[in-house]
Amino acid sequence: MKGLILKLLKDTAPSYLSGEEIAGKLKISRTAVWKNIKSLQKSGYNVEGSPRLGYRLLEVPDLLYPAEISEGLKTRVIAKRPDLIHHFMEVDSTNNRLKELAEEGAPEGTVVIAEEQTGGKGRLGRTWISPRSKGIWLSVLLRPAKPLEEISVFTLLTAVAVARSIRNKFPGIVAGIKWPNDILIKGRKVCGILTELKAEADRLHYLITGIGLNFNSTDYDFPPELKGRATSILLENNGQLLHSRKELAGEILREMDVMYQKYLTSGSGEILLQWKTLNITLGREVTIQNLGETFSGKALDIDQCGALIVAGNDGKKKRFVAGEIITFGTGEAAH
Ligand code: BTN
Repeated sequence: MKGLILKLLKDTAPSYLSGEEIAGKLKISRTAVWKNIKSLQKSGYNVEGSPRLGYRLLEVPDLLYPAEISEGLKTRVIAKRPDLIHHFMEVDSTNNRLKELAEEGAPEGTVVIAEEQTGGKGRLGRTWISPRSKGIWLSVLLRPAKPLEEISVFTLLTAVAVARSIRNKFPGIVAGIKWPNDILIKGRKVCGILTELKAEADRLHYLITGIGLNFNSTDYDFPPELKGRATSILLENNGQLLHSRKELAGEILREMDVMYQKYLTSGSGEILLQWKTLNITLGREVTIQNLGETFSGKALDIDQCGALIVAGNDGKKKRFVAGEIITFGTGEAAH
């Protein structure tokens, strides 16, 4: 009911809509209208009430509410209905919360979004700083009936979706992908992706893809060790934001859904092609760290599974299914 009233107010804004009209349209009592308006106000919607004119919506809060994100979102699987989006003001980690929902049988396409994470998780056991309303911290649940060896394709898929979404909404920003799935702008990391899964033998139960994207953060929001290595959409767009967090979040979910459909119908070809177009890794000299081993050479290609092929200084090729590029090109840090 709250969502329906919000929709009516949005459709009428900036004009007033009387309590009587709302009650009539939704076939509820005037008291029920009043209660729901109070609840909207409590959620941060600036709804002005006038005894003579009724109600009008003045401002929508900058929060990633399901009703806001799903507005105009036409997806087939991911967040295909607003009730598949679970919004929290605070969680330890959206990946952890979504894992709980997945264990309870949540359907494919379920999304968990938080304004703040108190225990945000990064790759390789690191923490992910996720201050309140400064970024997009979300996780998506997928249950693809695919063999385990295709798993890394989903991380590539997500990286492609995020890079494309940033470019779609902020055409002045050139977002590129550093293998396997960091999104960088001018050499600084704006987004990281953490994929976790539950599998048994060669059967995949579910896959959780967590996206952490710095949106409004300024240099003061990053810890000293990340200074100069991390960035945000705000910082890269000269302090201006033409689109809000919710618009970019919606665009990411839409792009993910499009890529996922393509993958289900025609395989990983399109994802790999897109990844190669958006990547900033191939053709460069890299140093990779994996399982305590360090290897330097030229990044040549990624294969069908998303593994990176590197030609060592002795000319021998090495294939990396996982790992982290610690230096790029002329040797500058590549985070
Ligand atoms: C990385 O280390 O680059 C991956 C960072 C992934 C962070 C996101 S934020 C949403 C989701 N929940 C988490 O706890 N981590 C991921």
